[in-house]
Amino acid sequence: MSKLKKVVVIGGTGLIGSKVVKLLEDANHEVVVASTRKGINAFTGEGLAQAVTGADAVIDVSNIMSFDKQALTEFFGNSSRNLTSAEKAAGVRHHVVLSIVNADGLAANPYMAGKLEQEETVAASGQPYTIVRATQFHEFLEALTDAYSADGAVKVPDIDFQPIAADDVAATLVEVALGAPKNGTIDLSGPERASFETFIRTYVGAKGDGRPVSADAGVNYFGAPVVTRSLVPTGNYIKGGITLAQWLET
Ligand SMILES: NC(=O)c1ccc[n+]([C@@H]2O[C@H](COP(=O)([O-])OP(=O)(O)OC[C@H]3O[C@@H](n4cnc5c(N)ncnc54)[C@H](OP(=O)(O)O)[C@@H]3O)[C@@H](O)[C@H]2O)c1
Repeated sequence: MSKLKKVVVIGGTGLIGSKVVKLLEDANHEVVVASTRKGINAFTGEGLAQAVTGADAVIDVSNIMSFDKQALTEFFGNSSRNLTSAEKAAGVRHHVVLSIVNADGLAANPYMAGKLEQEETVAASGQPYTIVRATQFHEFLEALTDAYSADGAVKVPDIDFQPIAADDVAATLVEVALGAPKNGTIDLSGPERASFETFIRTYVGAKGDGRPVSADAGVNYFGAPVVTRSLVPTGNYIKGGITLAQWLET
C-alpha cells in the first residue's frame, strides 16, 4: 500500500468531491473537505493557507452555477490563482483539477470559457499539476435532457457522445492525485461511444419519459458550434468501466 497522504478536496461537498472524499477516507488518507460551507473559499482565498499546510495534493472539483462568461472566468481563474499560490507557498506536491474534454475547442460556450481559463491559469502557475478532462457525467443527462427540451420534445446536437459515471471520475482523480504530476492533460471518458441522441433516448426511456428524442445538425452545445467529435476524446484517454445501463440500475 502506498504511503498515507494528506489531500485537500476543493469542492469536497459536491457530486464528485464527496465521492473523492469517501474514496480517500476509505483508504485511510488524511482528507480536508474544503468548500465555502466549511469556511474554505477558493475564490476569495479564505482559509486556503491553513487548509493546504502539510498537504501532498489538492484536488479541485469546485463549481458554480452560472451562464455568465465573466462570472465563470473570474471564478475559475481567481480560484485557480489563489489555490496554486497557496500550494506553492506550502510546498504542496501536486495540483489536480477536473476539466472537460475539448474545453478549448468549445470556448464559445461561456462555461467552457471558464474551464479553459481554469486550465490555462493552472498550467501557467508554476505549481506541478495534472488536468483531468472528463466527458459529460451520466449524472448530467437529466440536466442535458431538460436543456434541450422544448414543446414536449428533445432535440440534441447530431454528434458523438461518450458519458462517464461520477464514480469512475472520482476513482481516476484519486489515482491521479496520488501519482506524480503530469504537468499536462489526461482525457477521461465512459466505456461506450454512440450518438448523443442514442444516450438521451436511452435515458429518457429508462425514466419512463415519453418525450420523443431526435438529432439536429443545427443544434449547438450551449452556444458553441460542434462537429461529430466535439464532446469525445480524439487521442489517448482513460476509459471508465460503468456503462449507462449499469448506472441506470443503481
Ligand atoms: N457535469 C459534467 O458533466 C462535467 C463533466 C466534466 C467535468 N465537470 C467538472 O466537474 C467539476 C465538479 O462538478 P460537480 O458536479 O461535482 O460540482 P457540484 O456538485 O456543483 O459541487 C461544487 C462544489 O464546489 C464547492 N464550491 C463552490 N464555490 C466554492 C468556492 N468559492 N470555494 C470552495 N468550494 C466551492 C461547493 O460547495 P459550497 O457550496 O459549500 O461552496 C461544492 O462542494 C466541475 O468543475 C465541472 O466543471 C463536469
